[in-house]
Amino acid sequence: MAIRYDEERRIFKLDTKHTTYIIGLTPEGYVGHAYYGDYMESGDVFYLLRTGERPLTPSALPREKSSFLDFFPAEYPTGGIGDYRESCLDVRGSAGCRGCEILYDSHRIRKGKPKLNGLPASFGTEDETETLELVCVDKVLNLRVILSYSVFEEEDIITRSVRLINEGEECLRIEKVLSACLDMDDEEFEMVTLVGGWARERGVQRRRITYGKQMVSSAKGESSHQEHPFLALVTPQTTEQQGRVYAMNFVYSGNFIAEAELNQHDAVRMVMGINGEDFCWNLRGGEEFQAPEVVLTFSGEGFGKMSRSFHDFYRKHLIRSPYLHKKRPVLINNWEATYFDFDTEKLLDIAREAKKAGIEMLVMDDGWFGKRDNDDSSLGDWTVNEDKLKGGLKYLVDEVREIGLEFGIWFEPEMISPDSMLYREHPEWAIHIPGRQATQSRAQYVLDLSNPEVVDYAYECVAKILRSAPISYVKWDMNRQLSDLGSSYLERDSQQELFHRYVLGLYEMQERLVSEFPGLLLENCSSGGGRFDPGMLYYSPQIWCSDNTDAVERLAIQEGTALIYPLSTMGAHVSDCPNHMTGRNTPFETRGHVALAGTFGYELDITKIPEKDREMIPGQIKDYHKYNELIREGDYYRIASYRENHKYDCYLVAAKDKSEALMTFVQVQCVPTFHGKKIKLLGLDSKAVYRLEGTEQVYTGEMLMKGGFIIDFVQGDGMSRLYHFVRQSEDHIKK
Ligand code: GLA
Repeated sequence: MAIRYDEERRIFKLDTKHTTYIIGLTPEGYVGHAYYGDYMESGDVFYLLRTGERPLTPSALPREKSSFLDFFPAEYPTGGIGDYRESCLDVRGSAGCRGCEILYDSHRIRKGKPKLNGLPASFGTEDETETLELVCVDKVLNLRVILSYSVFEEEDIITRSVRLINEGEECLRIEKVLSACLDMDDEEFEMVTLVGGWARERGVQRRRITYGKQMVSSAKGESSHQEHPFLALVTPQTTEQQGRVYAMNFVYSGNFIAEAELNQHDAVRMVMGINGEDFCWNLRGGEEFQAPEVVLTFSGEGFGKMSRSFHDFYRKHLIRSPYLHKKRPVLINNWEATYFDFDTEKLLDIAREAKKAGIEMLVMDDGWFGKRDNDDSSLGDWTVNEDKLKGGLKYLVDEVREIGLEFGIWFEPEMISPDSMLYREHPEWAIHIPGRQATQSRAQYVLDLSNPEVVDYAYECVAKILRSAPISYVKWDMNRQLSDLGSSYLERDSQQELFHRYVLGLYEMQERLVSEFPGLLLENCSSGGGRFDPGMLYYSPQIWCSDNTDAVERLAIQEGTALIYPLSTMGAHVSDCPNHMTGRNTPFETRGHVALAGTFGYELDITKIPEKDREMIPGQIKDYHKYNELIREGDYYRIASYRENHKYDCYLVAAKDKSEALMTFVQVQCVPTFHGKKIKLLGLDSKAVYRLEGTEQVYTGEMLMKGGFIIDFVQGDGMSRLYHFVRQSEDHIKK
């Protein structure tokens, strides 16, 4: 049993394989956070709520209630009544005042995990997970608050979400509703976040926590390139293999905050949820509001264990696509090959050459519809441009399939160009503030997905094209962030619901897409990796990681991404050099090795690249077929980070049964030491004997992990090597 309630002590104990989470109820009904960390046998830790110390509980010392509230480690703090730290729930009642206090009412423990209405969320069978629903009430507001905790024992994960029910008649204004809080005291923490920008997504940032609030957030309408819905608090000196890590990741694709606050008592509050900026939800009598889910994990063994817990969890309990455990077709995308300048013949030339090299799918990117020869027009007009695609889309798809490749297509369904038929007909469908010229970004506006009519229209545009030809793959793009928040559909006092309703509209469209086309391979994208989050992974098994395809830059981008997300989700392609973004030259072999860590494909004009590069493609595809299952399903270990050492990068993927491991080494900068580099491997079976493939060299796992492996000195910047270690069966081992 993963969840137990000790009625006498009023303690809930939530156990995973290696962690324990304990909640305690005070006699008054305050729901307190007593413990989270390494697995503990005993749950008898009510004392950790420290209600015996001053400032006691309000029933013992009513005149000091605020001191209590501002000190108590709360499971779900509410605002306006004397807890001055960051609150999770701010409610304005019918009198116009902000104040909410929730006390325990009842609870329910059940097997399995209910769905979250309208939202992506993790799932598990009755054998895999148990859920605790803690029901709290604010009797003054007539508000019921249900705190849900689902425990996934195997993966050391606890998910949290919150549901509000207005049981009264008056409308309540929900000004903030976060999804999770962890109150931790008396420990020195550092904070790890993922930050960057367009083409520099998810760089790892680590800093000391100081007094006050520090956070990452988005108020851009998407999870964003700049800051990521992830936060880890770690003890100083935490490394890949050591240290305590508390991590939260948000299953949501819109505005968020992830915050740590160090307060006067040297206690840290960590919260995550929908950003309260420009958010206010009218919860009318009888209505419910479901806040999205936070995925929580604790690792007592550093970042590596944290990453592997997230990876296993997302592969098993979040991504639904039938492609999850399958090799994805090796694709070639024409974006960096042609940009907008292509036609049927050009695409067929690429397809023919691609087929010869062993590539399996052609993806036609932006520019096939309306009058779109650059990014100035036509978003919203999803009709095929027959000047470019002579004979139409079906003809092209049939020809490509005849050549022997599958066909994929690009869409940007959430957008509208001011220069489009759609905008001329429906200017009110663009998000805008009445009377104000809306801000353009990449010459486009965003469609108002709070309006069901717009959702229907945008969805039908995509579906109609997919129904018209045998299309196997969709790249769903989103190339600008939201501004000028105004909806012609929503009432005046509901305008602050737009950010969240936009995300709900997006989820509805993607849900319809995967339901109507269950065999479709969907890849999400947002100017590269601007919406790479667990919410989108619920719909698509892979997301384009970044518009930056430079192999060296990708090392850091993929490292940051893989801190949380499985390698099987990272869209990664080999592109041409000099790289279009950085101008850097890297060996074609290295570009292949780096892209192997993701979904793998090509993003170049195969008819134009140097012959010697083209000749390497069949070998790279052979490697992909050979190693993809290991990379997709295995355990990922970071060994050395170029981001930190500025010289080389090294990571390894080990099979779950430790029967094989693939290690990638990239020497970004050659340092002329003229002797080989010693690398200590991770993740092997120390007792097993491994042979380095392609040689007769054998090692025990212990030798490789404790003693290390010597990488021969190679000259050249940007060189890379793959090392495949294969466990030997008993009779292969020479005594
Ligand atoms: C975004 C994507 C690119 C490409 C272009 C097309 O930037 O990230 O891969 O599809 O849009 O306009």
